[in-house]
Amino acid sequence: MANVLITGGAGYIGSHTAVLLSQEGYDIYIIDNFINSEPSALRAVEKIISKCVQFSEVDLTNSEELDAVFSKNSFDAIIHFAGLKSVSESVGDPLKYYNNNISSTLNLLNSMCKYNITKLVFSSSATVYGKCETVPLAEDFPIGQTTNPYATSKFVQELILKDVALSNNLNIMALRYFNPVGAHTSGLLGEKPRGIPNNLCPYILQVLSGKLDRLNVFGDDYETADGSAIRDYIHVVDLAIGHLKAIEKLLCAESSVSYDAINLGRGVGVSVLEMIKSFESATGRKVPYKIAGRRQGDLPVSYAATDKASAELGFQAERSIEQACLDLWRYQEHLNKTGTSKEQSVREK
Ligand SMILES: NC(=O)c1ccc[n+]([C@@H]2O[C@H](COP(=O)([O-])OP(=O)(O)OC[C@H]3O[C@@H](n4cnc5c(N)ncnc54)[C@H](O)[C@@H]3O)[C@@H](O)[C@H]2O)c1
Repeated sequence: MANVLITGGAGYIGSHTAVLLSQEGYDIYIIDNFINSEPSALRAVEKIISKCVQFSEVDLTNSEELDAVFSKNSFDAIIHFAGLKSVSESVGDPLKYYNNNISSTLNLLNSMCKYNITKLVFSSSATVYGKCETVPLAEDFPIGQTTNPYATSKFVQELILKDVALSNNLNIMALRYFNPVGAHTSGLLGEKPRGIPNNLCPYILQVLSGKLDRLNVFGDDYETADGSAIRDYIHVVDLAIGHLKAIEKLLCAESSVSYDAINLGRGVGVSVLEMIKSFESATGRKVPYKIAGRRQGDLPVSYAATDKASAELGFQAERSIEQACLDLWRYQEHLNKTGTSKEQSVREK
């Protein structure tokens, strides 16, 4: 079976993808520097798959550390999740985002070219579409009208990946995620945000656990049915399946030169107020919230066109929002029981 390098594999989406790939028989090798994750995520992966995970603590902005991994291992394909992802943090410190996200991708491409690895799946984002007037957002819409440095870093990385794929005979697929939610059904793996969460679901979970008083709903006067903003929430396990399909496609690809971008979403819009109700029915608890003003830069409605994922990858998200809320709550209860302290270190192989 193929050997897949997973950068950022201790993170939220990477760890779920690592579980699935391993369960499907792939050999996986994870690298991460834990800038936004913890070694405990790798132990949770190992517990679920009942196997040790090959891992090296590597900062992708350090080209020597990265090259050392390539010099000692042979990879058939790479999934590149590593990157910083907070929109608000990127507004406050754009250089941190450009340095980390763009340098990591440049170093990875250099190592790929040096060690003749040609297949890469890249974590892009629906934020590359920026201010589009029409929905659903389709892959052939113009990209780059971004509204924050995080989104711009993803846009620039897509441009770089496309240029390098075409000139250096690589085969690259950029997957544009919409809003990942949910957790592994075991309750052992999920998203562990640091500090006050930026995203809706982690925030709601902290309100439900009593760590935060209430949720702010940013805007109830959008032109949507209930006035709150609409997003396309996709279960993280469905996202992992999308990556599995992308890897399968790249590994079977006859052509060695290509670049493609594909949306991963459910293709269904869910409003903030609908999401609150789903959490309430999944947990049997009230989510206290107050209506706050609109947040600058927020779009009223965003959801994916899913035809391309279906045609090119045979991918369709299957898990419901209710399922995502149940899985998230199960994971939150696991965290409440086990505590959230940062663990020390994992063995490096
Ligand atoms: N979660 C979302 O809402 C979302 C939406 C669209 C796109 N994405 C993208 O998907 C990818 C994965 O997202 P996630 O939600 O799993 O994020 P995450 O923060 O949970 O995981 C990213 C991982 O990358 C690691 N990392 C970051 N910089 C690194 C570096 N220089 N060297 C080594 N490791 C590094 C972090 O420690 C973390 O474990 C990111 O690139 C993110 O931008 C996420």
